[in-house]
Amino acid sequence: MSQTIYDKYGFDAISTIVHDFYGRVLKCDVTAPYFKGYNMERIIKHQTEFLCMLLGGPAKYKGRELEMAHRNLAISEEAFDEVADLLDETLEDHGLTDDEREAVIGAVGATRGVIVRET
Ligand code: HEM
Repeated sequence: MSQTIYDKYGFDAISTIVHDFYGRVLKCDVTAPYFKGYNMERIIKHQTEFLCMLLGGPAKYKGRELEMAHRNLAISEEAFDEVADLLDETLEDHGLTDDEREAVIGAVGATRGVIVRET
């Protein structure tokens, strides 16, 4: 049986990566405004659980469905691309291989249709 990304890195490393990732999201002029006023620790906790589930870990994500969570945020294609790029850079800086990053970005990219809502 092949090892999943979750098996290889574990919850703590993924949590560290997600913290680093949101630090970058909050420094970026395109993405930061969307997060104004939100409780970042709660988003980080849910995003960590969500990513762990996506990467082969236990399915203990307790947040809302992605479409529900993002429907009133008017997220643009540009903001989505920026978030995906920031995540890719963060994963690279934490030592994930090209194949692993491709798998993560592929899975995250597949959520575009329910997250982007330009009105
Ligand atoms: C790239 C794929 C994305 C994934 C997988 C994702 C995932 C998530 C998750 C799991 C949550 C927590 C939901 C909850 O607590 O119930 C969340 C919340 C949030 N996301 Fe995303 N997200 C993505 C893209 C984006 C983008 C591009 C933006 C804006 C630039 C964004 C802005 C937000 C905001 C503001 C919240 C808090 C909403 C609230 O609490 O009402 N997300 N996201």
